[in-house]
Amino acid sequence: MNILILGGGGREHALAWAALQNPKCDVLIVAPGNAGIAEIATCADLDIMDGAAVVAFAEEHAVDFVIVGPEAPLAAGVSDDLRAAGFLVFGPSQAAAELEASKAFTKEVCDAAGAPTAAWARFSDAESAKAHIRAQGAPIVVKADGLAAGKGVVVAMTEAEALDAIDDMFAGAFGAAGAEVVIEEFMDGEEASFFVLCDGLEALPFGTAQDHKRVGEGDTGPNTGGMGAYSPAPVLSDEIAERTMAEIVHPTLAEMVRRETPYQGVLYVGLMIKDGAPRLVEYNVRFGDPECQILMMRLGAQAFDLMHACAEGRLAGAQVVWADDHAMTVVLAANGYPGPYEKGSEIRGLSELPETSFRMTFHAGTARQDARLVATGGRVLNVTARAETLEAARDAAYADVDAIDWPGGFCRRDIGWRVLDDQ
Ligand code: AMP
Ligand code: GLY
Repeated sequence: MNILILGGGGREHALAWAALQNPKCDVLIVAPGNAGIAEIATCADLDIMDGAAVVAFAEEHAVDFVIVGPEAPLAAGVSDDLRAAGFLVFGPSQAAAELEASKAFTKEVCDAAGAPTAAWARFSDAESAKAHIRAQGAPIVVKADGLAAGKGVVVAMTEAEALDAIDDMFAGAFGAAGAEVVIEEFMDGEEASFFVLCDGLEALPFGTAQDHKRVGEGDTGPNTGGMGAYSPAPVLSDEIAERTMAEIVHPTLAEMVRRETPYQGVLYVGLMIKDGAPRLVEYNVRFGDPECQILMMRLGAQAFDLMHACAEGRLAGAQVVWADDHAMTVVLAANGYPGPYEKGSEIRGLSELPETSFRMTFHAGTARQDARLVATGGRVLNVTARAETLEAARDAAYADVDAIDWPGGFCRRDIGWRVLDDQ
């Protein structure tokens, strides 16, 4: 099979790595890719937001299967263009990608589906939004409706913070994404991520994870795209997973079918768990990054087969065979991230690191400049390990972190702290 993966982060490096372990993979192209991906696959300089260009590229290279990594091309309808041209695609249509692209859309779907989530209201002018905040009081959550690269959410612990967030959003801090805001009840509890493959009405649980979104140790400081993650997440027990499928995922998929926009691809179900009950925080229409890296490391070649079955509508009866294992990934980010950071600093020591089915350093924001490996993004490397216990996975991941020579970067040293009691 000739496979095309769209994207160029750590998530796509992990997807490429898993695809290559599968004997079905003959040719693998990743667009645009990065320096780590270039070591295992062909990277193509292609504008993945341009549906016509992606279709032309797929035709030229006789692509059999396209996996879309990030949300932006999905929200732009690139999967629709590919399907209209006859390509097999893993990833939802533009209409179904609204589950990530619009917070108000997701809330409407949840209400229609009866899925438990925070109480909410939507506003398109600052004065009524502020009146609502004053009536509700803090803590309260203010969200830009549209895609804001994970930055359009303010969890306000005081009324003043919430009112400031309204001013920022209507002043255009998130561009068009903030033309409408959603204000939500603050939910208390422990967060976890649940991944489900969906092909319309069929849904296959595809793993659990816990991400660390704050930049600082002990979950402090500003939000990031994710500083490290582990899988499985014990807080998301089998019982909670079953409840989530019954109360949230299946009703949502049925509502999407009713709207004639069935959901196909991976559904990232962000949950808040309290007193043994799950409530939906958000949906994303793609794998989490860095959560994908640990899921791929745990699933290997199987992940590719199941994503292919999902795209072909063959999920009925499909099963995931889990090993009794644990995986952790630690994100190395450029100094300054998530604020302004420097680009171009050199990274050394990667060539001595193990590259096995238990230990991999996935690249997120890297490039080659002559023989040198340099950082080109905020999140730069995802040092990933799998082992019989989470402690052993953690020790292996941090041993590899310590072998990397990169004064321009940093990481959190406490990934997994909620479940590793020796921290
Ligand atoms: P989102 O982009 O919707 O996932 O929001 C980003 C983060 O904000 C989530 O991962 C949560 O930590 C937090 N958050 C979002 N909505 C709520 C809520 N209603 N209550 C508490 N925390 C929330
Ligand atoms: N790691 C969080 C996300 O991918 O949205």
